[in-house]
Amino acid sequence: METKRKLYIETYGCQMNFADSQIVGSIMTENNFETTGNIAEADLIFVNTCSIRDHAEKRVRARLQEFKRYKKNKPGLIIGVLGCMAERLKSQLIEEEKMVDLIVGPDAYRDLPRLLSVAESGQKAINVILSADETYADINPVRLDSNGISAFISIMRGCENFCSYCVVPFTRGKERSRDPETIVKEATELFESGYREVTLLGQNVNSYNSSDGTGFASLMAKVAAVNPLLRVRFATSHPKDLSDELLGTMAAYPNICRSIHLPVQSGSDTVLKRMNRKYNREWYLGRIASIRKFIPDCTISTDIITGFCGETEEEHNETLSLMNQVGYEYAFMFKYSEREGTTAAKKFTDDVPEEIKSRRLKEIIDLQQELSTKSNLSDIGKTFSVLVENVSKKSSSELSGRNSQNKVVVFRKDEFKPGDYVNVRITSCTPATLKGEVID
Ligand code: SAH
Ligand code: SF4
Ligand code: F3S
Repeated sequence: METKRKLYIETYGCQMNFADSQIVGSIMTENNFETTGNIAEADLIFVNTCSIRDHAEKRVRARLQEFKRYKKNKPGLIIGVLGCMAERLKSQLIEEEKMVDLIVGPDAYRDLPRLLSVAESGQKAINVILSADETYADINPVRLDSNGISAFISIMRGCENFCSYCVVPFTRGKERSRDPETIVKEATELFESGYREVTLLGQNVNSYNSSDGTGFASLMAKVAAVNPLLRVRFATSHPKDLSDELLGTMAAYPNICRSIHLPVQSGSDTVLKRMNRKYNREWYLGRIASIRKFIPDCTISTDIITGFCGETEEEHNETLSLMNQVGYEYAFMFKYSEREGTTAAKKFTDDVPEEIKSRRLKEIIDLQQELSTKSNLSDIGKTFSVLVENVSKKSSSELSGRNSQNKVVVFRKDEFKPGDYVNVRITSCTPATLKGEVID
């Protein structure tokens, strides 16, 4: 038997990128490769990259320098850059980073075997063509680094919202949705092989719209109907089109998880306008009220950008006041990072000084810490059904999992194992974790 060559994939960025790496893993295993977690034995290194902020790109560049060392020891080693940085920088990346042999954008992964043979012949290989219809629907992802319990399913690709600060519409291209049957089939197969949670992924899942007219709410109902023991999550929702129809579907299916990630970015109408988010504070708060009405036990998390072009102290304070008003359970918080080619880069000046961005970010993080603690404290005494995922990172005698609200819950191991549902009463908490005891 021919020995398989070894592929090492390192992934940066969002969950969609992690899902894409699994597609890449699948394409390569069909082409006589096997994946390895040990970079030293790799014949091929892929780094699946992110361009969302400058910092994300800098990390990849630093990592590429380290890869040089492996290439010195193994002259035949091929290094490929995939994903959003490949798409954004194209051949410029090969000029700047000489060790790179292969540049492949997010819609060109089917071309990898051919590109690899070009690279092996000693030429640089590049394909960054974006597609209007590629969804990789027929490719069964290789579940890399999986706990065997929770999995991601990409349901759509691309984004056409053009938020003024964001590079994604340029790196991921046009929006397109995958056929619902292929999604339901993937969820069913995952359930049958022991998985108990799927997260449906897209940059803006609410605009899911398949060629047969299925919208996101009906897709969720179809996936939730696979089995009541299969938890269903989704990310990410754009506030402008989070519909009551979807909230109604969530309320109707107990296995659709009670947590919504609803990125707000800013609490100020004038900033939201400059960001081209297409909603204002009032609209956003209206959506929050609707969530509370349909699903009273739903947790809400968000993304916030601080220090966007022209952001005044007053506008910043409006973000703090909105955070207080919503009482988020969790938030991802970022300093604005200018991205070349975006509307914000062309039209506005990145004029908030670094030290002010840092101070505002700290205020936002401190407030979120308070809000998360407050929310967790209010869970003490409540009982939740927890899906066990792992042995706890801190102690082998404890298990960790999440409740439907997406909070991490840690409790004594006893006879339970990953994949079990366990009722846990919460007895204490930290800002990030709930602790509890199993009840019958
Ligand atoms: N499609 C998702 C988010 C994708 S990017 C959505 O619209 O919600 C994830 C987060 O990165 C964004 O929500 C935003 O908060 C942040 N982000 C995007 N571009 C950024 C930039 N140029 N600088 C700082 N943060 C940014
Ligand atoms: Fe970027 Fe906006 Fe699209 Fe999200 S919705 S990916 S923030 S352009
Ligand atoms: Fe990054 Fe691309 Fe995702 S820029 S956040 S990897 S879509």
